[in-house]
Amino acid sequence: MLSNTNDNINKTEFMNHYSADPNKFEAESAEDILSLSLKTFAPKIAFASSFGAEDVVVIDLIHNIHGEKTRVFTLDTGRLNPETYDVMDKIRDKYSISIETMFPDYMEVEKMVTERGVNLMYNSVEERKLCCEIRKVHPLRRMLKTLDAWITGLRRDQTFTRSNVKKVEVDVSNNNIIKINPIVDWTNDMVWDYIKKNDIPYNKLHDKGYPSIGCAPCTRAIKPGEDLRAGRWWWENDFHKECGLHWSK
Ligand code: ADX
Ligand code: SF4
Repeated sequence: MLSNTNDNINKTEFMNHYSADPNKFEAESAEDILSLSLKTFAPKIAFASSFGAEDVVVIDLIHNIHGEKTRVFTLDTGRLNPETYDVMDKIRDKYSISIETMFPDYMEVEKMVTERGVNLMYNSVEERKLCCEIRKVHPLRRMLKTLDAWITGLRRDQTFTRSNVKKVEVDVSNNNIIKINPIVDWTNDMVWDYIKKNDIPYNKLHDKGYPSIGCAPCTRAIKPGEDLRAGRWWWENDFHKECGLHWSK
């Protein structure tokens, strides 16, 4: 197992392992992949958190390994739900960690809202993507420029566009930095079992029919039988509903 044999693996060795076999990391557990990645890239590695169910699990996993050195950042779009701010604060208190908070460029937001209105996302897919670009993607790029690797809470069975995501990837949309997806092979049940077993604070919207939570104007509860992501940008018909954080346009 890579994580046991290479205590002092460096970035070049990590990349060599990856280049030799991009599937090499697939057999590693979430804990092992995180442990190896943190050893290799700290302090220039951080977890991107929206504080959904998957993300509070990953924070707990990282904190178990990395303690006070745990780095978590969030993209505060300015349009989040109050429940998201509540869980953000609870996580901050429970683990005694800072949440590195990235805001959008205020001049970009001012121009966009002045020209197109605050709820432009309902006008067209293009305008919705513009809002995501300004409020989420640009702040993400700003953070990623400072890192060698980032960690996400992506899971393969969230949606078919994610079904081929690997545990370790080279992020071609972001200057080829390393992207670590430690729980990509977990199921929804595994996530919730972990939350309950470890008594981790979670977003209370999950108890109100929201399996996937983004910004307030763009997320609704789902109805019985609906797809887990049906409540995201629910007025759009396209099955490829993404905001650009994980795939460029
Ligand atoms: S999204 O692209 O559709 O918004 P989703 O909500 O499924 O993404 O979350 C997938 C992963 O993207 C999360 O586990 C997290 O790593 C990252 N992410 C999503 N939204 C944010 C955010 N606002 N701040 C930081 N990371 C985020
Ligand atoms: Fe804007 Fe909605 Fe995208 Fe949030 S999810 S950045 S409110 S369009």
